[in-house]
Amino acid sequence: MLFKLKDGREIPVELYKTRVVQKINLIPARARLKAIEEAGYNTFQLKTRDVFLDMLTDSGVNAMSDNQWAGWITTDDAYAGSMTFYEFADAVKEVLGYNYVMNVHQGRAAEHLLSKVFCKPEGVVITNYHFTTTRAHIEVTGISECLELYTDEALNTKSTHPFKGNMDIDKLKAAIKKYGREKIGYVRMEATTNLLGGQPFSMENFKEVRKVCDENGLLLVLDGSLISENAYFIWKREKGYENKTIAQIIKEMCSIPDIFYLSGRKNTCVRGGFIATNNKELFAKLEPWLPVYEGFYTYGGMSMREIGAMAVGLKEMVDPSVAGCAIEQIKYFVEKLDSLGIPVVTPPGGLACHIDARKFVPHIKKEEYISGALTAALYIVSGVRAMERGTISMDRAKDGTELYADLELTRIAIPRRVYSISHIEYIIERLQWLYEHRDLIKGLKFIFEPPVLRFFLGKLAAIDNWGEKLTIAFEKDFGTDW
Ligand SMILES: Cc1ncc(COP(=O)(O)O)c(C=O)c1O
Repeated sequence: MLFKLKDGREIPVELYKTRVVQKINLIPARARLKAIEEAGYNTFQLKTRDVFLDMLTDSGVNAMSDNQWAGWITTDDAYAGSMTFYEFADAVKEVLGYNYVMNVHQGRAAEHLLSKVFCKPEGVVITNYHFTTTRAHIEVTGISECLELYTDEALNTKSTHPFKGNMDIDKLKAAIKKYGREKIGYVRMEATTNLLGGQPFSMENFKEVRKVCDENGLLLVLDGSLISENAYFIWKREKGYENKTIAQIIKEMCSIPDIFYLSGRKNTCVRGGFIATNNKELFAKLEPWLPVYEGFYTYGGMSMREIGAMAVGLKEMVDPSVAGCAIEQIKYFVEKLDSLGIPVVTPPGGLACHIDARKFVPHIKKEEYISGALTAALYIVSGVRAMERGTISMDRAKDGTELYADLELTRIAIPRRVYSISHIEYIIERLQWLYEHRDLIKGLKFIFEPPVLRFFLGKLAAIDNWGEKLTIAFEKDFGTDW
């Protein structure tokens, strides 16, 4: 809930109370420098004992509700035919409106099955924007590529456009003409677009995409990993939806695609995922592969406990105080940084506050991994673990050439119901200091580079030993205890 202060500012007031806590530590800057050097300037390689605020991701790190814990404990553990699965299937029907559902161990497992079954030889999968694992699974088939048809506004980091996640309908029609429907595996809409800064698409745009798919006999897939947030934005920003409930908006969104999938690690606050549909034939094409790659039909690679908690999480994610809990903290975070002149992606999206690294450190060359450097620098000066979402997160082209990312973002994710506004104030203060000292940040170079999803395991080094120089400047201002 946003609470309006007398001076006109809005602050998020959380509609929950914290009853279980975990202690966290802030190690000093010199120890953080050592930790990031050992991690190869890759925040994925840090150990949590060295992390103060873990804002790497909003995935699998959210706080479950008391009722989810109750669902977790009261599960029916069975290899086959567990009643917990059937209760979960009822929740899918109630919240999303689908008759057929299969669990998978996480979102990328759904992408694996969809790519395996629906990608076409010498074909493409069309999307409003790729996600790292989606693109990897499409390309790993060896037969298809990922084609992104975002609007021009999508890459404008300073914008007031409410729906930067929209698909460009003219580009969609042109692509269908170019490739022909027989080469297009499916059209995929991602709600909200993770790598564009958590930006949503509108219901109007989604319906237009559906219309074009119908006219051309194309399969439409919805990646609903962040569907609550997308629905919340439709509620807040799209004309005609202001008087609907989040539950109604989610139901309407789910009535549009042929196939729905999600990573349960986000909106449902557990781990796992699922694929759902009302199309029996499509379901039958996917079903035989489930026990091959995931597990038996009534658990699909998930533990029954997670499925029990997921059923409750699904019902809770339509509550505006759950759907909007991260969005409101992000809005506060982004608007404050913006008012201080620190380059952030606007309008605020779902899942994270995104720093526009190209504008923050304009002196770093694109070959030297701009957002990777900024993300490491933020860790050194604050102990905050953010994530590089830029060129390191793109793998190279098949011929080995570097594919430069459309956007160079440092993503400071907001796990749901985990951190408070005072934590966010701390990050804002440290970012301000870093912005004033941004000339000290230089680029990175790879010292170990894996061939696929290199951002997970890759190791890099700081050009000109800039980490040491940044640490010395920080210690001069804050002493050696911070
Ligand atoms: C939009 C989107 N799709 C798919 C995935 C993959 O899900 P998972 O991490 O559960 O494999 C993610 C993960 O962050 C995501 O944000």
